[in-house]
Amino acid sequence: MQYQQLRPFPGDFLWGASTSAYQVEGAWNEDGKGPSVIDTHVKRPEGVADFTVASDHYHRYAEDVALFAELGLRAYRFSIAWTRIVPDGDGEVNRAGIAFYHQLIDELRSKDIEPIVTLYHFDLPAALDERGGWSNRATVDAFVRYARILFEEFGDKVRYWLTINEQNMMILHGRAIGTTGRSGEASKRVIYQQNHNMFLAQARAMALCHETLPEAKIGPAPNIVSVYPATCAPEDVIAADNWDAIRNLLYLDLAVHGSYHPLAWAYLVERGWEPEIADGDLETLTNAKPDFIAFNYYSTQTVGASRGDASDLQLRGGDQQIVRGEIGLYRAAKNEHLPTNAFGWEIDPVGFRTTMRRLWDRYRLPLIITENGLGAYDELVDGRVRDDYRIDYLRRHIEQIQLAISDGVDVFGYCPWTAIDVVSTHQGISKRYGFIHVNRDENDPRDLARTKKDSFHWYRGIIAGNGADLH
Ligand code: BG6
Repeated sequence: MQYQQLRPFPGDFLWGASTSAYQVEGAWNEDGKGPSVIDTHVKRPEGVADFTVASDHYHRYAEDVALFAELGLRAYRFSIAWTRIVPDGDGEVNRAGIAFYHQLIDELRSKDIEPIVTLYHFDLPAALDERGGWSNRATVDAFVRYARILFEEFGDKVRYWLTINEQNMMILHGRAIGTTGRSGEASKRVIYQQNHNMFLAQARAMALCHETLPEAKIGPAPNIVSVYPATCAPEDVIAADNWDAIRNLLYLDLAVHGSYHPLAWAYLVERGWEPEIADGDLETLTNAKPDFIAFNYYSTQTVGASRGDASDLQLRGGDQQIVRGEIGLYRAAKNEHLPTNAFGWEIDPVGFRTTMRRLWDRYRLPLIITENGLGAYDELVDGRVRDDYRIDYLRRHIEQIQLAISDGVDVFGYCPWTAIDVVSTHQGISKRYGFIHVNRDENDPRDLARTKKDSFHWYRGIIAGNGADLH
């Protein structure tokens, strides 16, 4: 639909930006923090930065929050490191870790920045991983206990909670992005049991949040793409539906309705990967109701009918945004209409609108975008980062939010990835996303000085005008 007049962004729209604990904080073993699977198991290619120092936000959070305030952020989406709060996952509570997040949240609140807190963003405590990780139902109890600690500690300061970041990517691409730890090096059957256990953990955390914090809101945060058929051949449409069910709807239906999507379940049964469902699980899943859907959007994906052989598969193996293919299910295809970024991820702003429309159509829950952004090899030259390519990317995506709002979709916030440069999941610090440049490279942390990029000044203007100055 084309409009004569677009609807404005709501006055209280949450213009924000995102990070995650292990990618931004550093201080990986300070003040009582325990190791997570990221610290013990991530294998990086030679010369790619690890997460020990990251962007050193742990020590520089006050300076960073001052910059976020200057940027005009109304919200900041970050994650709490489970291993700072409970170093071994389910034992002693670490007061120093709790104190850090009180300071961070107080700093944000003092500048009128709404904290949006992810409970768990890829960094499972290593001690739990040693005991089977998500294969062990005791991890579900440990997660719920950890969530309770956070609700009790921060519940009077935090209104928006996210359960688990990109559970679907941990299941589908855990090896590529390095989130599996030891327990994830298992068969698909075991991994889908882990998936089920994570759903239980999420459902119980949502129910607990509603019980203990009636004013708070909580939702899941999967990575969602609209899936296009490679052509209008009916077989390609079937393949697109297959992949949509397994990549997106399995996770969304479980979070919202507490039930397995029928096509995804048929796939699991066909492969012999269906999880064991214990007495009471289905009740636990259906009793939990999210208040909103948070989702991360980077691109769409395009697939065709399976040819039944290895030509279905993407040779590079795939990652969060690069479709992999699965024999007998769908074939990875390239969308000839879309450009790609420097890392092979397709760029599709219009697909963003499609994704918002589809989510609203299916679930009728308010939406918030908790990640969207452009990874690029930024260069700091004479004290300036001229990232006009990022401005263009963000502008074109924000325009699509306004179109989706005009279509009648309820979107209440946008938190692009990232507020400040962080270390990418598997491609180092050279793949930058931030509004604020951090002076370090893969091997040398240098002085970690902060510099506002051109996109910082641009986004500040967009926020100040509540999205009115996009064009
Ligand atoms: C999402 C993750 O998959 O994409 C983030 O939630 C991640 O943690 C972001 O950093 C961008 O991906 P990458 O692989 O470029 O860091």
